[in-house]
Parts: sequence; C-alpha cells; structure tokens
Amino acid sequence: MKDFEFYNPVRIFFGKDQVSRITEQVHAGSRVILIYGGGSIFKNGVYDRVKAALKGFELTEFGGIEPNPTYETSMKAVEIIKQKKISYIIAAGGGSVIDATKFIAAAALFKNGDPWKILSESAEVTEAIPFGCVLTLPATGTEMNKNSVISRKSTTEKLAFSVPPVFPKFSILLPDAAGTLPQQQVANGIVDAFVHVTEQYLTYPVNAPIQDRFAEAIMITLIEEAPKVYAKPDDYEAMSNLMWSATMALNGIISCGVPGDWSVHSIGHELTAFHNIDHARTLAIVLPGLWKTLKEEKKEKLVQYAGRVWNIKSGTDDEKADAAIDKTEKFFQSLGLGTRLSDYGVKKDTIDKIVKRFEDRKWLSMGDRELTTPGTTRKALEIQL
Ligand code: NZQ
Ligand code: ZN
Repeated sequence: MKDFEFYNPVRIFFGKDQVSRITEQVHAGSRVILIYGGGSIFKNGVYDRVKAALKGFELTEFGGIEPNPTYETSMKAVEIIKQKKISYIIAAGGGSVIDATKFIAAAALFKNGDPWKILSESAEVTEAIPFGCVLTLPATGTEMNKNSVISRKSTTEKLAFSVPPVFPKFSILLPDAAGTLPQQQVANGIVDAFVHVTEQYLTYPVNAPIQDRFAEAIMITLIEEAPKVYAKPDDYEAMSNLMWSATMALNGIISCGVPGDWSVHSIGHELTAFHNIDHARTLAIVLPGLWKTLKEEKKEKLVQYAGRVWNIKSGTDDEKADAAIDKTEKFFQSLGLGTRLSDYGVKKDTIDKIVKRFEDRKWLSMGDRELTTPGTTRKALEIQL
C-alpha cells in the first residue's frame, strides 16, 4: 500500500426526513442564497422543503444552473453574491448544481484576477463561502468531495478542480426526491458511480485488500440494485442503496493508498465539451476502448475484477479479462447507454480534435503508470467508433 492522507469533513444527513436539519446547520444570521438548476426542485417538492427549513433567514434565489454547469452562468451568481454580501450557500439538485456552487463559492472570494484561472491554471484557492447541499440525484459523489467540473461555452472547454475549501459543510441525501428522476438519468448515475470505482481500482495490485474489497462491494451493489432502480426510480430502498453507493464511490475512501487512473474521465470530458454528450454516456463509450487498449498492462486487476465482481472463474487470464470487459460494456448497454461513438453521431474528426487538444495541453502521459498517451487515446476511441 502507498502512503496516504485521508481527510473528509463533510457531515452527511441521509434520508427523507432530513431536510429540516438545514435550519441548525446554517449559521444564525447568515445571508443565504439558494442555488438550483432548471426547475426539477419545484416538481419534486424539494424547493418547498428547503424554503421551510430556511424560514427566518434572509434568502436570495438563483436558478438556471445547467447540466454540465458553465463558467458563464456561475459568474452571474458570483455577481449577485458580491452585491448582496451573501455569507452562506445552499445548493439543491444534482451534481451540476453542486459543482457550480463549489466554483461560485470559491470564485466569490478569489482575489487573483479571473476565477477561470482556478480551472485553467490550477490557481490557488484559499477560501470559499461555506455551503451545504441537498442532493436529488445519485451519481457524481460531489456531495462528499472537494471536486468540481465546470465548462466554458466560449472556448468549448470542460475542466476540473479539486481543493479542500470547497468541501461542503454538510450534505442532505434525499433518495425520495431522486424518485422523480427520468430513467435515463438514473442510468447515468449508476454508470457514473460505477466508473468512479473503476478509475480507482482497475490499475495494478498494491496489496491493498481493504480498498479492493470496498471497491468490489460498491460495484457488486450497483450491479444488483441497477435493474430495480432503473425499472422503478421511486423504489425508495433501491434508490437509497444507489445513492449511498454513489457517495461512497467518490468520497476518498477507496482511493486511499492505491494508484488511480482518471483517463476515462479525462477523455470523456472532451466528448462532452465537443458534443454535449451526458457525462456518464461518455464514460460508457471510452471505458471499454481504453481497457481493451491497455489490457496487457491492467491484466492482473482485470482478472481479479472478473472473478470477484462478475464471477468469471474459468478460462485463461486473457479470456477472463476479455469476458470482464465484455460484461462491463453489456452492463452499460442494459441500462440503455450506447457504447459506440456512432450511437451519438460522433465521427473520426472528433478523435483527431481530442488528440490534438491533449498534445497542445501537453497532456502527453496520463493516468495509471502514465499509460494514457495521445496514441493510446486515439486507439481507445477508434475501437469504439
Ligand atoms: O436542472 P434541474 O432542473 O435540477 O434538472 C436536472 C438535470 O436536468 C435533473 N434532475 C436532478 N435531480 C432530479 C432531476 N430531475 C428529476 N428529478 C430529480 N430528483 O437531472 C438532470 C441532470 O442533472 P446533473 O446535475 O447535470 O447530473 P449529475 O448529477 O449527473 O451531474 C453531472 C455533472 O457532474 C460532473 C459531470 O462532469 C457533470 O458536469 N461530475 C462531477 C464530479 C465531482 N464533482 O466529483 C465527478 C463526476 O465524474 C462528474 O465529472
Ligand atoms: Zn464521473
């Protein structure tokens, strides 16, 4: 196992009766802004529940955060926050609303020029406005981590940052509110959470049995719960298990002391930037291609994954690895996700653009043992054409 530091200060309130906890969590006398997306919180009752919990606070509202939240919209919220001297933020919605809130919270106190530098130059973030989250969509894990992914329309870029000041102070997880999700968003959530686990697991063995078995437990749970919650998003029990799996997948626990490989995400973000494909759908395309390309290098872990997660016990190591990749791709397809670029009308010219972009950014070797080069990226995407 490698050396590691683990720190996660996010207080979690899980379950349908927890919204009222906001009242005690927000500092008395705070000037609060409620940030939300395109209006789902009005349909699932979350807006009314949050408003009731914030009764007694001076409250401003800012709606319209889009899926794949943008710098442009976020900066409008930053203006309002500065004007109104807001001191606490509540984010209510899915990963996009929470990610935007993280950027807004940091940008509002950023003193070093254009806050885009937080993303483009990894500019230091020393402080952020405190915020709490009300999560209505299980997927990203953003409710319990310090990551945020923001797009910039003007440059068709999608970049991430990760800094401790944007850990939420608390997050309220609402499986009941997630019951109004359309099926394809539930599918997206399952696949995103699953790939978060594989990005921290499917590398090479470092004798970290706890982390491996935690990761395998999350994947097995996702595979078991997926058909139930996909068929019936308002199955409260199944949605609860999906929601907690998604949180556990990316709150830092399974990455302790093990190598990671976020290449599937890095390539996927480019497909979203160029074609606006849903985040999880990009992962379902990239992952099988990248694993096929790096099968030899990742074989030991692929064989372990085949046996423990998919119960593939017979055949040579090579056959087991192939079967595990195939099972994974079929799992994504069983949830209605296309795993080919052609499913989204994406052609070879996009592969050229992505490869060029990585070269221009000098992202010449990424991920596990720096195995993902522009050449690997090209090969992985060509397999999925
Ligand atoms: O905007 P509203 O009206 O709220 O509707 C949303 C949105 O249209 C809707 N929705 C949310 N909760 C609902 C609901 N509809 C009905 N009932 C509910 N209960 O769902 C749509 C998608 O929401 P969004 O927040 O975009 O989805 P998700 O949670 O999957 O977030 C995706 C974003 O997170 C980033 C992605 O790149 C993408 O931008 N990620 C963030 C990560 C992190 N911070 O750690 C890690 C991930 O890998 C990911 O990159
Ligand atoms: Zn993701």
